[in-house]
Amino acid sequence: MSRPKVFVTQRFFPEALDLLRQKAEVEGGVADEPLSREELLSAVSDIDGLLTLLVNRIDREIIDRANRLKIIANCAVGYDNIDVAYCREKGILVTNTPGVLTEATADLTWALILAVARKIPQADRYTRQGLFRGWQLDLFLGQEIYGQNLGIIGFGRIGRAVARRALGFGLKIFYFDPQRLSPEEEAHLQVNYLPLDELLKTADIITIHASLNPSSYHLINREKISLMKKEAILINVARGPIVDEKALAEALKNGQIFGAGLDVYEGEPEIYKELLSLDNVVLLPHIGSATRTTRMKMAMTAVRNLLQGLSGQKPDNLVW
Ligand code: DGY
Repeated sequence: MSRPKVFVTQRFFPEALDLLRQKAEVEGGVADEPLSREELLSAVSDIDGLLTLLVNRIDREIIDRANRLKIIANCAVGYDNIDVAYCREKGILVTNTPGVLTEATADLTWALILAVARKIPQADRYTRQGLFRGWQLDLFLGQEIYGQNLGIIGFGRIGRAVARRALGFGLKIFYFDPQRLSPEEEAHLQVNYLPLDELLKTADIITIHASLNPSSYHLINREKISLMKKEAILINVARGPIVDEKALAEALKNGQIFGAGLDVYEGEPEIYKELLSLDNVVLLPHIGSATRTTRMKMAMTAVRNLLQGLSGQKPDNLVW
């Protein structure tokens, strides 16, 4: 029996490609940059499996071209880059990589919270520029973390991992999620539910861990930002389009909130220009899950899902 043919859209870990090669004919997996539309369209025409990264937009046109495709394994927990409803209609399996990146992403969330609250990047730049002339009472005064209110938007795996860490920092934890936990679960996790507007008014630090879908698009817009405290810090490590970047840039510029930390952007890799010139926002290049251990687990999970789907098994992480 001939081996299934798989295409990997971008550079991938050799260990994961080796695993894939044990069961499939593998093409791709070397490109440094995301493929162009034309390259992707031509690559999918005669393959059985597709291994994608979140930068690959897999829409109807691509799916229609892939007339042999059985499975798309996305190497990410988010899968808003894929038209899952259409894949389902066409019987194409779609998988993601949940669980393995929870802790690393929660760690990075805290790195951003601390960086913004304590002005770490600004202080680092200042020190490197040779501007440090000795201890000063009011040098780089930031925001207190201990005892503050943390507001978590989206209380899935990552939101909860952020909450666990928050207990160590002595924060009061509030969350908003379309699905409220039971009173027992809330008591166990030491968290309190608040409707979104109340959470935005109450929290000193607001961090987003929701998935992107039509109901979360621009969930944080000008009106919602206007509810936040003047000292508030907004963190987004989920998906860029959940925040209206233009409205956020305006609020940061006008000192309407204290600061923001972003790992994701509306038009990634483009960043709303105004943000680049602001000192009260810390900007990262979508590295929430970027530890070697976690990224390797994501790659291996994606490969395992792909091979399961190709061999007729139900993949572990099927999203439909
Ligand atoms: C994901 O997996 O969806 C993250 O954005 C990248 O790790």
